[in-house]
Amino acid sequence: MKKAFYLETFGCQMNVVDSEQIAALLTGLGYHQVGSAENADLVLLNTCSVRDKAERKVYGHLGRFKPIKDKRPDLIIGVGGCVAQQEGEKMLEKVSYLDLVFGTHNIHRLPELLQEVEQNRQRGCETTFHDRDTRLNLFPERTVQESVTRFVTVMQGCDNFCSYCIVPHVRGREISRSSSDIVAEVKSLVAQGVREVTLLGQNVNSYNLKNDEDVSFPQLLELINGIDGLQRLRFATSHPKDLTAELINCFGSLDKLCKHIHLPFQSGSDRILKLMNRGYTAADYLDKVARLKLVCPEIRLTTDIIVGFPGETETDFQATLDLVEQVRYADAFTFLYSPRIETAAAKMADDQSALQKQQRFDRLLDLQQQISAEIWETDSDQVLPVLVEGESRQGEGQVFGRTTWNRIVNFQGSTDLIGKTVAVKITKVFRNSHVGELAEAE
Ligand code: SAH
Ligand code: SF4
Ligand code: F3S
Repeated sequence: MKKAFYLETFGCQMNVVDSEQIAALLTGLGYHQVGSAENADLVLLNTCSVRDKAERKVYGHLGRFKPIKDKRPDLIIGVGGCVAQQEGEKMLEKVSYLDLVFGTHNIHRLPELLQEVEQNRQRGCETTFHDRDTRLNLFPERTVQESVTRFVTVMQGCDNFCSYCIVPHVRGREISRSSSDIVAEVKSLVAQGVREVTLLGQNVNSYNLKNDEDVSFPQLLELINGIDGLQRLRFATSHPKDLTAELINCFGSLDKLCKHIHLPFQSGSDRILKLMNRGYTAADYLDKVARLKLVCPEIRLTTDIIVGFPGETETDFQATLDLVEQVRYADAFTFLYSPRIETAAAKMADDQSALQKQQRFDRLLDLQQQISAEIWETDSDQVLPVLVEGESRQGEGQVFGRTTWNRIVNFQGSTDLIGKTVAVKITKVFRNSHVGELAEAE
């Protein structure tokens, strides 16, 4: 009988892609995926450690599987991803019913680790970091799925070492995939019916920055823009310091590139930006935003902001609010600073109280929500191109898609529209999505 696996994914889009690779590997071993741990022979968590809360969630979740394992001792439980990378063997010590731990560079080792557990009940842990060539040769296959949009990894790892961030410690050094591999992958996805790709990396703007023998990131965008059958192109995440003039110009010249950029700024205070080791000032950042808006007046920005970095004063925080008002982001992900093991910021003195931080966080959120509401309201009554992605969860006969600004639109329409770009008139604006009606098929 076929064995069943249950896989849960936390964290960023990198983990989503990694989980697609894990699923493909397991399918190759004769497993099939199930939607609940109750019926599974193998339970895997693909984890995130970017903030303390995310990390604690993993241990909470593992606790839920203990009673199942008590009833069925043959159940294999494993943890992969960034917490696994960070904790390694310690996880096996802490969690007595855990069978295997595999780090971010070791998805390919899963079959052997599994075999050890199955045949010898030998618990295993593999968190070795591999060099560039090994990692590039280890890009495992992903699941084939019927989907209009897919992620495509262009680079992995991060060399920036922002002082608060665990990612460089758990994902290792930056590597860029060859442009020919990426273009071939996008072409094959398009042949499977994919119409939009999001190029993915911890810091896509540094794609091939250290390799003159292959194309630059703007050149890669141009190559992908030229692929027949692809309708849309996005990329995430961008680091402001590596956002070159050439890349900014792509928003004016590439017809398939969506008019949206996620450009985290983290703090509006130069003093804090320096302590964060971000490599730009608020003025540098605003200058790049101005140029983006110049080459593409319709562009909308989203961002990430950290509140409560060690020693952040009211003046520093005010600079963050000022920047938010100036740029007018369509959306922002706001985070309370969370100290992370091994990072430089975790050792910095911090004299601000938790209450102060929470109050600032709430003020920022209020401001951003007001700006977001104003921006999204301007879509009201507009007829906008929407790439239809699938059936909507909102009700019978409805489909959903997204605008160029990555905004979800639900509307009455046939499933025949899936994969097509149609004109939709926006009739209602909610906090996280729009409702519309079909204006005309393209
Ligand atoms: N590579 C991406 C971000 C990855 S982490 C980039 O550089 O933009 C996603 C977001 O989590 C970051 O942009 C930051 O805002 C937030 N973050 C990272 N470490 C954090 C920490 N220790 N505490 C709070 N937020 C953090
Ligand atoms: Fe973390 Fe900075 Fe790298 Fe982003 S660029 S992953 S915030 S170290
Ligand atoms: Fe989290 Fe790892 Fe991504 S720490 S944000 S899953 S790179």
